Amino acid sequence: MNENHDSDKVVVRGLRDVAAAETKISFVDPNGALYYLGYSIDDLVERVCYEEVAYLLLNGKLPNKNELDDFRAQLISEMNLPEAVINSIKSAPLCSHPMEVLRTEVSHLGMYDPDRDDNSEKVYRKRAIRLVAKVPTIVAAHHRLRINQKLVTPKEEFGFAENFLYMFRGIPADSEEKIAIDRFMTLHADHGFNASTFAARVTASTNSGMYSAVTSAIGTLKGPLHGGASEKVMLMLDNINTEEEVEEYIQGMLDDQKKIMGFGHRVYKTEDPRTKHLRVIAENLCHRANSLSLYSLCLKIENVVHEKKKIFPNVDFYAAVVLNALRVPKEYFTPFFASSRIAGWTAHIIEQYQDAVLLRPSSKYVGEFGRTFVPIENR
Ligand code: COA
Repeated sequence: MNENHDSDKVVVRGLRDVAAAETKISFVDPNGALYYLGYSIDDLVERVCYEEVAYLLLNGKLPNKNELDDFRAQLISEMNLPEAVINSIKSAPLCSHPMEVLRTEVSHLGMYDPDRDDNSEKVYRKRAIRLVAKVPTIVAAHHRLRINQKLVTPKEEFGFAENFLYMFRGIPADSEEKIAIDRFMTLHADHGFNASTFAARVTASTNSGMYSAVTSAIGTLKGPLHGGASEKVMLMLDNINTEEEVEEYIQGMLDDQKKIMGFGHRVYKTEDPRTKHLRVIAENLCHRANSLSLYSLCLKIENVVHEKKKIFPNVDFYAAVVLNALRVPKEYFTPFFASSRIAGWTAHIIEQYQDAVLLRPSSKYVGEFGRTFVPIENR
């Protein structure tokens, strides 16, 4: 009879509060604050553009004017795709979800990387820039091809986030939309050891390549408990017609033991620090679009959910309203999240390469021992 040496092990269900590694990239403060490399997002969000944040995450410091211009130029010059990837996007089944296409095409892209056999630091840093540029390019290309429209070439004089929206919609953003997409991407750029970042780091910890690690991250982000929540938020908003219906709708969800999408958080037990910024952007965009009734509906949902469950909206709640106001179809909400988080993912992959330790937890075996083997003909 085998002895169960696992019986004394303590399982931390869901890895809640387990610190799996040290990081210098971002700090998620449970008291409701978020820092990128020591800078509060409250100090960054209205003062920097997304590519400044991507540079900060990848290089550990904010760029000066020349460094930023060079970095932006590099990013924009990488906003293109190999012909084979474009053809593969074209041949994706119409029913495929944009996140499935993104997951597949990032993996596909890896085979066309010009330095694919080289994983030296110089090359993986270049590769990170390539991925920060090409993930949004895949998302934009998929949308354009799906609606039978031509692919859009980025403009050198546009900012990076502005180019992404331009390449996606085919029309330049106006000044308020430019601000909205920059802030949306800045607020989504990194967030500690969330599930998709952890998945990326596990893959990177085996010394696997950056495309594999990002593919793991995209598959993980896709789930509705993580980045997939924003699309579900929009479905909920589509299903509630008036503020009068909110109470009954939310109660019905809770009675059915269903989670309210865009609410609750593993780390924050107070309001998610990104929510206040996204709420303001959502209000401005709804005001412009004469859709303040949608914004009021959101406030009502916030109040009712807080009253009933004492939980707060997370990043996905108002992110859905912002992207909807930017006329992004809801199935692209999570791809827009991925197109911003790619900066954080690649920064974490680099940090993991440098930490050089295999991430490999253990488990507590609670199965059977000593079963008698029965040959197949006797089963
Ligand atoms: N709707 C309803 N109840 C929720 C909830 C939600 N969105 N989020 C948490 N709760 C409840 C839990 O069921 C639990 O209730 P209980 O004490 O009666 O069992 C309580 O609030 C505490 O939850 P907690 O253990 O802190 O949540 P978690 O860390 O296990 O889960 C999430 C965190 C994000 C997975 C969870 O909040 C969730 O599923 N949210 C909806 C999906 C979403 O928006 N994801 C994006 C996250 S950024």
